[in-house]
Amino acid sequence: MKLNIEIKRSNPEKNKKPFYQKYKVNGDPNDRLLDVLMDIKRKFDPSLSFRKSCGHGVCGSDAIVVNGKERLACKTLIKTIADKEGACIRIEPLRTLPVQRDLMVDQKKFINSYRQVKPFFITKKKAVSKESVQSPEQRKKIDDATKCILCASCYSACPVIQKENPQYIGPASIVQAARFLFDSRDDGFEQRLSELNSPNGVWSCQNYFNCTQVCPRNIKVTKLINLTKKDIKKHES
Ligand code: SF4
Ligand code: FES
Repeated sequence: MKLNIEIKRSNPEKNKKPFYQKYKVNGDPNDRLLDVLMDIKRKFDPSLSFRKSCGHGVCGSDAIVVNGKERLACKTLIKTIADKEGACIRIEPLRTLPVQRDLMVDQKKFINSYRQVKPFFITKKKAVSKESVQSPEQRKKIDDATKCILCASCYSACPVIQKENPQYIGPASIVQAARFLFDSRDDGFEQRLSELNSPNGVWSCQNYFNCTQVCPRNIKVTKLINLTKKDIKKHES
């Protein structure tokens, strides 16, 4: 089918004003949006910049905004975003992070927030001599949070970061904290508390649910944030 692709192009290094470049391409409804981007790069414009790596929804590097919604290019089939011949697909970089070039954003701020919550095991045990076993029920508590691929779609879609508090650590960092907070083998609750229990931590979340709606891994992001709030309150009472 014929498609009209509009891509927001920017090159801050050259101080060029962002503009929307239009490409007329042919795409199969079962093609992925990443295939179309690769096609444009090969056939029309090798300077078009975007990130991708695994091509299969695992690395999280190709999150972009498509017709106003955060998506992974490699997981988006053309038929889900173009309903008729000549359909227009507008592609933009993620919001709330500075653009490096075209669809590539600088992830430093996002990754720094992630680091703040200490996303690693903290244990009081001196040495672990044997496997630390979990029951299926204990494992279930962290199942959802372990699915996060740090694509930053939730960070981009969050109205709090966009308009209210740009310093909010963001949904993904709290999901990553929850992955350890609710792990029966982890003892790092106190050490993560200063970041989580702060104005830029969980209390910035206003339950807009945008994060849950855009997460390509279908993680119940808002629910995990609320469970973390509940855990902090329980700890304080
Ligand atoms: S919670 Fe979902 S949207 Fe947010 S970074 Fe993880 S995978 Fe991406
Ligand atoms: S290229 Fe890895 S998630 Fe899309």
